[in-house]
Amino acid sequence: MNTGRGFGKTILFGEHFVVYGLPAIASALGSFTIADVKIVEGSGWIVDDQRPATPGYKKKKFHEAMQSVQNVIEYLKIDTDNQKLEITFSGDLFAASGVGASAAQCTSLARALNSTFNLNLDDEKINEAAYEGEKAYHGTPSGIDNTASTFGGLIWFVKNLTGGKNTMELLQARNKMHLVIANSGITASTTEVVSDVRQLREENPENFKRIFGEYNALVNKGRKALIKGDLTDIGKLMNKNHTLLQEITVSGEINDKLVKIALQNGAIGAKVTGTGRGGLVIALAENEDIKIEIANAIEKKGFDAWKTMIG
Ligand code: MEV
Repeated sequence: MNTGRGFGKTILFGEHFVVYGLPAIASALGSFTIADVKIVEGSGWIVDDQRPATPGYKKKKFHEAMQSVQNVIEYLKIDTDNQKLEITFSGDLFAASGVGASAAQCTSLARALNSTFNLNLDDEKINEAAYEGEKAYHGTPSGIDNTASTFGGLIWFVKNLTGGKNTMELLQARNKMHLVIANSGITASTTEVVSDVRQLREENPENFKRIFGEYNALVNKGRKALIKGDLTDIGKLMNKNHTLLQEITVSGEINDKLVKIALQNGAIGAKVTGTGRGGLVIALAENEDIKIEIANAIEKKGFDAWKTMIG
């Protein structure tokens, strides 16, 4: 049995904007997906998905997940005619919309195949294989999720729109930061939401130009604030980022509700993270005690809340 891991991620600034070549900042989470690969007699491959997940998530993503496995296997040119792969996914990363669960699955599989077949792939190649897998989830992934999942840490990411190498820079935040991740329990389709945003942009080019301009200024300030460790500024910029996400229609009512609960219970800033329209919301807390208060308040309203550290 050979094993590989892929980290979950959270996007601090720039989901959706990143698809259009604007910079985004993401952090890997401490939780990860584990892939185990066993070679048995026969042909083809089968998957046993043991990951903890939001109810309904695995069903909704089933076809995409199977296609992503196929993409990674094909990209790495693994022979499945003369041998059969038994693939098991597990780990402590909760599979939910917004946490980079699909990317973590693809990365863990690429790493497990790398070790099973002694492919000698470096992280760049693992990342490329994971990106191929991600394409099954939507045709035009920016690549930020698989990059965070592969390399870990806090990253500044810019998609190269002409197909060349993306920019990935590891950032050094001044301090580790307390974060609450609130789960709306709703699994969004990244394909649908990304394509709706694209259509909206085509219909409102001038408005999007202004929004993109505002976002660009914001993410550059966010980078400086993270490096300086200025939590107040980071929080304000997260709130502003959330407003822009509302404008491009990716924050649903439930996201706004979770943001409001977090802010009313001491969060410095809160926003949608990932695809939106359900999925997850993140909230920045000044310290451990406030983090616990925010998480408790969210749980009291019937949602899951995870406490973590990033940076
Ligand atoms: C999903 O985690 C992030 C999106 O920006 C899509 C992408 O970057 O591929 C919504």
